[in-house]
Amino acid sequence: MTESQRPKERIEMITLHKILFVFCFLSLSLNYYISTKPMLEIENPTFSLIQPNETITSKFSDNYDQLIDIKKFSFKINPKPCKRYPEGFLLMIIVSSNPLNYENRLVIRKTWGQTDESTNIVFLVGETDNVTVSQKIQEESVTYGDIVQGNFKDAYHNMTYKHVMGLKWISHHCMNSKYILKTDDDIVVNADELKRFLVRRLSPWGAKGLIMCKVAKHALAQRRQSSKWMVTLEEYPMPFYPDYCPGWAILYSRDVVPRLLEAAQNTPYFWIDDVHITGILAQKIGVPRTSITNYVLTEKKAEMLIKSGRQNIGRFLFGPPNLKVQRMSALWRAISQSCHI
Ligand SMILES: *[C@@H]1O[C@H](CO)[C@@H](O)[C@H](O)[C@H]1NC(C)=O
Ligand SMILES: *[C@@H]1O[C@H](CO)[C@@H](O)[C@H](O)[C@H]1NC(C)=O
Ligand SMILES: *[C@@H]1O[C@H](CO)[C@@H](O)[C@H](O)[C@H]1NC(C)=O
Repeated sequence: MTESQRPKERIEMITLHKILFVFCFLSLSLNYYISTKPMLEIENPTFSLIQPNETITSKFSDNYDQLIDIKKFSFKINPKPCKRYPEGFLLMIIVSSNPLNYENRLVIRKTWGQTDESTNIVFLVGETDNVTVSQKIQEESVTYGDIVQGNFKDAYHNMTYKHVMGLKWISHHCMNSKYILKTDDDIVVNADELKRFLVRRLSPWGAKGLIMCKVAKHALAQRRQSSKWMVTLEEYPMPFYPDYCPGWAILYSRDVVPRLLEAAQNTPYFWIDDVHITGILAQKIGVPRTSITNYVLTEKKAEMLIKSGRQNIGRFLFGPPNLKVQRMSALWRAISQSCHI
């Protein structure tokens, strides 16, 4: 070893130490990050929580036989499951569902949508021309008693009818639940965590003025022909939508539902239901949308959870949207087995 090599060696040693130090620091911070599970943080809450013994009466006027601009609306199937529940039961879930998605409904009933003494669920569907499908819906309704069907055509551009039908159904037939969750039929709800959240972070006595979700802010109205969400200037003249709640997971307090229904009945139809109801109409009745962090499990974390089972992935209330049926089952299994509590 010559003299000239020594300084270089020393420099290499220092670099190695630096690398080791950085490595240790990173792994420590990673440990710290993992051990402090991310919490569900409510950003700028604008709703209020109901006190014990506080009674709120919600008077509303609604023409039962009208649904926005459909003058001869009726429920073709109209179950009344809430009659079996006491005043002030915790949660009613309404799920916008495609009549064809029989499998989705089956999976939801067996997984996160299981009913119990504090929770119930119905699926909202429209009419279909397909006689086979129509009969199947009838049979499903007889078997499970959880299908709410309206006499409008089940179609993509008719989503707003479906959502508002849900608001109507709640307002007339299920005002005894404290919270209402509106979802789609291709997501997974972390049901136990959600119930804990409602009772502990919100209030077991309910809330007022609550529309909660992972708020979509400053969303652009899509003008490209190729977009699934393309809207014309006639349909929506402004460039941006108001802040709104994406339709696959919206939490309402019960007071908000009849107010949104009244507003919907008196506002021209706009087919993008979540923008219309939780954006335009919510703004109209003056109810801000409350955003919450970690509301949704990211695709990436969902993937991790499904692939490697037990994981400390922190708190969340909903899985990512647009899941295939098999992935809904897989994610539910992973959630039920994971240590996220
Ligand atoms: C609630 O009301 C009931 C009946 O009016 C009363 O007996 C009870 O003490 C009240 N509870 C609270 C916490 O105010
Ligand atoms: C009705 O729906 C079923 C199931 O999706 C399908 O197999 C059938 O071809 C449809 N019938 C008509 C007439 O479209
Ligand atoms: C929506 O439903 C109405 C009432 O059933 C129907 O007339 C209309 O054609 C439907 N829209 C679409 C896009 O299918």
